[in-house]
Amino acid sequence: MKSLAVLHASQLVTLTGPSRPRVGAEMLELGIIRDGGMLIRDGRIELVGPSDEIEKNAGDAEVINACRKVVLPGFVDAHTHLVFAGNRLDDFERRVRGDTYEQIAKAGGGIWSTVEKTRATSEADLLVQARKHADWFLRCGTTTVESKSGYGLTIDDELKILRVMRRLSHETPLEIVPTFLGAHAVPRKMHADQYVDMVVNEMLPRVTSDSLAEFCDVFCEHGYFDIEQSGRILSAAKTLGLKLRIHADQLSNSGAAMLAAELKTTTADHLEKTDEQGIAALKSGGVQPVLLPGSVYALGSMSYPRAREMIEAGLAIVIATDFNPGSSPTPSMPMILSLACTQMKMSPAEAISASTINPAANFSIFDCDDYRELAYWFGFPQTHSVYVKGSRAH
Ligand code: NIG
Ligand code: FE
Repeated sequence: MKSLAVLHASQLVTLTGPSRPRVGAEMLELGIIRDGGMLIRDGRIELVGPSDEIEKNAGDAEVINACRKVVLPGFVDAHTHLVFAGNRLDDFERRVRGDTYEQIAKAGGGIWSTVEKTRATSEADLLVQARKHADWFLRCGTTTVESKSGYGLTIDDELKILRVMRRLSHETPLEIVPTFLGAHAVPRKMHADQYVDMVVNEMLPRVTSDSLAEFCDVFCEHGYFDIEQSGRILSAAKTLGLKLRIHADQLSNSGAAMLAAELKTTTADHLEKTDEQGIAALKSGGVQPVLLPGSVYALGSMSYPRAREMIEAGLAIVIATDFNPGSSPTPSMPMILSLACTQMKMSPAEAISASTINPAANFSIFDCDDYRELAYWFGFPQTHSVYVKGSRAH
């Protein structure tokens, strides 16, 4: 593998620090090096520092002149539903006319309509659509995504989606962390408990024996899976060695944050309706909140999660797109940075801290000279180029 010397970043955002998520005031420390550079060998960062120092050590490395642009670790988008068929344009129009997410779902739209299209699409055709989505992520400067299944809801269709993710991660530079979300909705003509039995007894053992997922997730919400059903699924997944995530308190405060704390899930996602009690529980359970302002925005709601209170409580918050065809059709982390700052009152530094991790040989160059511009200008990509493991990915 060739070596790479990146030189003359206006700001090299290193995010160096302890190898754990940043909390509280640590989120403000981005470890910026002005006129910074880095040396990458064998797909790993060997040295970061001022450009002149890097240049001295560059040897025969290929030089990339960042030309006074911002260099940032690749965004890590920790909550996406990347593999699905089609879109939800009809839902979109209905919502603009005033219907709610719940009303649209009842009228034949919602998750179920994407499930029908996804079931009817072959693995090869799903891969074609997923490639397009992967390309959108890279174009926005995202180099790693967590991606959930959940638009199949039968064993064969869930496995099909998970296999598409695996193939996608082999053939594109985008790094994909797969999550099994069999419990995304209850299939038509089935009782919820009957479907939970199927998820626990048939789907989970197959998903784990084929090593198709690292995490298990559940949509814990009225009309989807209640606390007891969510707990059953997540406990079974834990026993099988999967790590846990949960869609919690998105549309109503159902006590899902409490369940997350009890099961010590890795993350609790959404949390739009979580109150002080839930925040305290997440803290005591060591759960990372994943906040998804794109879905609040796209649903035309005003209930953004209480990011400031969570930061003050010392929670290691993460922000992500929730890319999906229904509630958040955006692959853009820069758009999420804008929403995090304008709607959740996070500072640009906090938003950057919550959207990527420590220095990696995955990085993006943005056509601006101050990192705050990423959150400030919105609605168009400022990405100049994107590298994964030291190789150009976009
Ligand atoms: O995270 N909440 C459940 N799942 C998605 C929505 C999926 C859909 O509407 O297709 C979400 O918002
Ligand atoms: Fe989601």
